[in-house]
Amino acid sequence: MSITKRFFGKLSDGREVTAFKITNQDGTEAEILDYGVTLRTLKILDKNNNFIDVVLGYDTAEEYEQNDGYFGAVVGRFANRIRGGKFVLNGTQYSLALNNGENHLHGGKFGFNRYVWNAKEVENGIEFSITSPDGDEGYPGKLDVTVTVTFINGELTLSYHAISDKDTILNLTNHSYFNLNGCGNILDHLLTVNAETFTINDSGCLPTGEIVSVKNTAMDFLSERKIGELIESDDPSVKLCGGYDSNFILSKSPAAVVRSKESGIVMTVTTNQPGMQFYTANKTTKRAGKNGAEYNRRSGFCMETQHFPDSINHPEWPTCILKAGEEFKSFTKYSFLLDK
Ligand code: BGC
Repeated sequence: MSITKRFFGKLSDGREVTAFKITNQDGTEAEILDYGVTLRTLKILDKNNNFIDVVLGYDTAEEYEQNDGYFGAVVGRFANRIRGGKFVLNGTQYSLALNNGENHLHGGKFGFNRYVWNAKEVENGIEFSITSPDGDEGYPGKLDVTVTVTFINGELTLSYHAISDKDTILNLTNHSYFNLNGCGNILDHLLTVNAETFTINDSGCLPTGEIVSVKNTAMDFLSERKIGELIESDDPSVKLCGGYDSNFILSKSPAAVVRSKESGIVMTVTTNQPGMQFYTANKTTKRAGKNGAEYNRRSGFCMETQHFPDSINHPEWPTCILKAGEEFKSFTKYSFLLDK
């Protein structure tokens, strides 16, 4: 295994972006930018022994900075939405930056996806770190965050660590768009999700607070089914947000398995997080991607392992509160194999 780095580009404010490439003996490679700990490339061997780049991304730093959709990035401090950007912690009301209508999404206007992280080589990968100051986007506490990305034996692992000097809230995930064929849409990908229930959305893609069974809904992936099978149906779980954009409540491990018959690639997602937002690029508009690719609606799918959206406003759900001085730890592993 080897790790190399190269100058990737400059942001509009002059900050420099570096790309780190992890290459394994079999030629599989992962490229990660220090801008947002963005997974730019993930090359996996398909059934015909060709390399397929299974994540969407761009060629330039400028495109990462300007385009919407959080392509490949780590999002935080709070992945997903917080209603009205408001929450109460220890009797104090906090107001966060609003960047999604009246709501707060993926950490706000200058979330973790916009930081250039410090990078250090570690065994089998790279450790990225930042310090987010007290009051950053409205969040309490100075927060030290580390995300370690390793890639070995077909397993890409993101390990998240954080510590705050005040009680705060935290919800970290990665926003990669996967496509196991490398191009085209993801409607024929076969999906299994080990979730018996999910949190219902309102029309703003925020949880109403109600938890329901996946049975008899478009969210039932307990048995393998094509992503596209019910995506255009009248079921409110897909209709309200233009496709899949809901949080599964994970019931056992692994969280999910995705297969493409075309490439023969099988991706398994394992995590210690209680939920997973499954998002089918409903809002991705036509745009140019890396290496001449063209992306559009449904070009990729995201598996955002996380705490439930808006969970700070639902105290009955698994807590996203990080107490002062306590260590936050989470991981998500994406493993790639070929179908037998
Ligand atoms: C959210 C979508 C949002 C998208 C932005 C997803 O995590 O669930 O509602 O539009 O991120 O790229």
